[in-house]
Amino acid sequence: MNNLQNKENLIVLAIESSCDETACAIVKNGREVLANVIATQIEIHRRFGGVVPEIASRNHTLAIENVVKEALAQADMTKDDVDAIAVTYGAGLLGALLVGVNFAKGLAYAWRKPFFAVSHIRGHIAANYIDSDLEPPYLCLLASGGHTAIVKVDDYEKLELLGQSKDDAAGEAFDKVARVLGLPYPGGPEIEKLAKEGEAKFDCPLPHHTSELYFSYSGLKTYVINLVHNFEQRGEPVPKADVAASFQKAAVAQLVDVLTRAIEQTGIKKIAVAGGVSANALLRAEFDRLAKKGCDVHYPKLKYCTDNAAMIGAEAYQLIRSGANEAELSLDASATVSIVG
Ligand code: KG4
Ligand code: ZN
Repeated sequence: MNNLQNKENLIVLAIESSCDETACAIVKNGREVLANVIATQIEIHRRFGGVVPEIASRNHTLAIENVVKEALAQADMTKDDVDAIAVTYGAGLLGALLVGVNFAKGLAYAWRKPFFAVSHIRGHIAANYIDSDLEPPYLCLLASGGHTAIVKVDDYEKLELLGQSKDDAAGEAFDKVARVLGLPYPGGPEIEKLAKEGEAKFDCPLPHHTSELYFSYSGLKTYVINLVHNFEQRGEPVPKADVAASFQKAAVAQLVDVLTRAIEQTGIKKIAVAGGVSANALLRAEFDRLAKKGCDVHYPKLKYCTDNAAMIGAEAYQLIRSGANEAELSLDASATVSIVG
């Protein structure tokens, strides 16, 4: 139980610091974003080819106070307008998460506001509610840097995991293939850009088609790595754009294939997509094709696909409305959380 469950208008100030974005958002009634501030560290980590956890934590510490102040200014609000504080407690980099969790605790304590702990994964799914009228039940394809799964959303706070990756996540595969092709971090957008200049000439492997709903990206990743190495060993130039296009086509085909089977198995034709890979234009085009085949298709606006705090505010609202308990000020961060937990 919480005291806000039945409040008419609910303003949540949300904080996200699970990876390399320090973010704060102010969200009204879970669907309207009044402020959305993101301090990205991408340029800092790029020179290392990926996120360095220690450096991420230190930069969160430097950015967080200003990010929160800027969000309040953007919304033209003071602490008195805020009904609740929400924060991502996991999954993510422990040291990075701790910066957000401790700052949010401090705000909740000093401002005497109710405090709620939000799962980053559920936040990605809730990004679909922003500026949208989407309501459960629906199927959500989750494809981020850390997770790839099909989730049946029976109700806002009642989720069922129908299948997930047996190995790498889709975003992770994009990042690793990008690295092999010498592209900067994060790899997804870079592969997408390069793929536009190439042709999907190479026949990348897809997992065996079974009735089981699962993903697997390690075979595809290994195939692409070997393909690149073979060109290099022969002393031939690597046709990078064609490799990127071939990989992207296979990666997206797998996502859509498993989702299509989930639609057939459940009979649920209302679908959404979540996580960083949902920004991918080819995946979105495939979703549009599903719409033409009679599916009711939803996806987050591009700015809410990758990490942000607005999605955390959107999920916090649903948590509060469902009557969830406030988090204790002893709340700990957690590097992993269960997908539907
Ligand atoms: O959801 P997210 O921001 O962070 C996690 O929670 O993991 O996802 C980041 C992942 C990265 O692997 C990144 O390469 C991928 O999403 N990504 C993309 C695109 N934009 C981001 N993958 C494919 N196409 C994109 N346009
Ligand atoms: Zn994320």
